[in-house]
Amino acid sequence: MKTHKGQDILKCYYDRFPGKAQLYFAPGRINLLGEHIDYNAGYVMPAAITQGFWFAIGEAEENEFSVYSATMDEYVHGDFSSISKSKGWKNYILGVIHQFIEKGHSLKGFHAVFGGDLPLGAGLSSSAALECGLAVALNDFNSLQLSKKNIAFLCQKAEHTYPEVKCGIMDQYASMFGEKNKILFLDCIHIESEKIEFPTTHSIVLINSNVKHNLNDGGYNKRRMQAEEGLSIIQKKFPQVLNFRDASDDQLNRVKNEMHHEIFQRCKYIIEEIDRAKKGAHYLKSGDITAFGKCMYASHEGLKNLYEVSCPELDFLVNESSKFMEVKGARLMGGGFGGCTINLIESQHAAIVAERISNSYLEHFKMNASVYMVSPGDGAHHIKG
Ligand code: GLA
Repeated sequence: MKTHKGQDILKCYYDRFPGKAQLYFAPGRINLLGEHIDYNAGYVMPAAITQGFWFAIGEAEENEFSVYSATMDEYVHGDFSSISKSKGWKNYILGVIHQFIEKGHSLKGFHAVFGGDLPLGAGLSSSAALECGLAVALNDFNSLQLSKKNIAFLCQKAEHTYPEVKCGIMDQYASMFGEKNKILFLDCIHIESEKIEFPTTHSIVLINSNVKHNLNDGGYNKRRMQAEEGLSIIQKKFPQVLNFRDASDDQLNRVKNEMHHEIFQRCKYIIEEIDRAKKGAHYLKSGDITAFGKCMYASHEGLKNLYEVSCPELDFLVNESSKFMEVKGARLMGGGFGGCTINLIESQHAAIVAERISNSYLEHFKMNASVYMVSPGDGAHHIKG
């Protein structure tokens, strides 16, 4: 994959299109705790990172758009009056344009170029970075003044309708609201977040299994349907339970025989992970990284055994991490089925420990793992030129 920075993208724009362009950036995200619970009324702990996509945008003929992906070296062109679904990265772009039009905004014709330094299919939400990057650019370019929250919702809807991944709000929210050195503790019912300072004593290290995950292939949407099915069974017996946040382990156990074992496991994971995320926020605020890290390991166990979104490569990486005292916590991150593990490691040992884990991975799977040191960064924004 080709990587680019903002200035490369501007140059790329001027090599292809006439007129003046504006530059925007939208980040990928990490998530410390609270996986697969944004669409289950839980709490999640994401942060934007400093890697993402840059978008250059400028004027084109009325009613027309043309977007060039420097990453893929491909174009998508079109006319606002006849947008339809395509494939791969193009669907994220088309989905966002379609949402603006669907919501009644009239758009000026535009040219855009994008590219960045975010690995694709690694669970870092390159999809939200793509959507939010284009959406903030279009919002400004057309002087629409949509709020950050409305842009996040618009992008989530774009992902539901074009690539057809029924994602929660975490990724788009983090890409819009991220802040340097801050972890967001996001309440996924009220869509409000509290910011928690990330401690400088520890580093966030991502280890990419390089098993590509693809959330369009059904596993993600299936989990969402199973969760809905489980909730409706709980609600039959306990109508006061409005969502998973209201549900308890005890209530779940009392309807155990009324649901398929797999549905029971999914619900058990959700109820436990909501609780872990709440406790985790408390530990992080009080500086208890050891307790926080234990929640991360427990989250991985649940994702592996109950929610079943892990794979042998991710399990191996987490298990290797757990052999090092310097690693306070590790788990798979994002949708799962491949991608990265997230590790919380004492800063002064982070690089060496990560190298040792990736060496064991290479030895075991005869495949390279990639290591990324990341830190919480700012959400999507305009870059003044
Ligand atoms: C993907 C989705 C998010 C969230 C995570 C799992 O990244 O886009 O909404 O559900 O998976 O936590």
